[in-house]
Amino acid sequence: AAILPESYTIRPMCKSDYARGFLDVLRVLTTVGDITESQWDERYKWMETQGKGAYYLLVVDDGTRIVGTGALIVERKFIHNLGLVGHIEDIAVAKDQQGKKLGLKIIRALDFIAEKVGCYKSILDCSEANEGFYVKCGFKRAGLEMAHYY
Ligand code: ACO
Repeated sequence: AAILPESYTIRPMCKSDYARGFLDVLRVLTTVGDITESQWDERYKWMETQGKGAYYLLVVDDGTRIVGTGALIVERKFIHNLGLVGHIEDIAVAKDQQGKKLGLKIIRALDFIAEKVGCYKSILDCSEANEGFYVKCGFKRAGLEMAHYY
């Protein structure tokens, strides 16, 4: 269970993943919209520059296309002695690839990065329907999410 299926790799997202179906994987999670390659390039460049050291996006590549993704955003705080908190966001596995432990491996990899960069905890929001998945990944229920949409 610790290794990926043959031909699959887990790696940092890169610019050319636009053409490997990165956005299609995110569509299992929510609305993505019609993002052009130049809009993609612009956001990618922002993450590399302004977002440097804060955005860690991973993908699972099956050798032909992206089949899973997840992100870690590292927040720099003043509290807890300038503590770092990891925010786990936008975990998605292609419908036909779910149940192969890819989600678990994405979370493990993001957890590893969070610990390595010095986060004292990682947190995430999810639906009740996904609670069991995150419990299997070692998370426990803590607090309550509130939102204000604009
Ligand atoms: N409820 C309970 N247990 C679950 C669930 C669930 N919804 N999903 C998976 N599990 C269990 C599996 O059965 C497995 O258990 P086992 O080790 O006993 O066999 C374990 O969790 C690991 O499952 P994986 O195979 O790694 O899960 P998968 O690769 O299918 O990924 C994911 C799970 C990411 C939730 C996937 O189903 C998905 O992409 N869903 C749609 C998008 C989504 O809801 N993403 C999460 C949003 S929350 C966020 O991004 C912070």
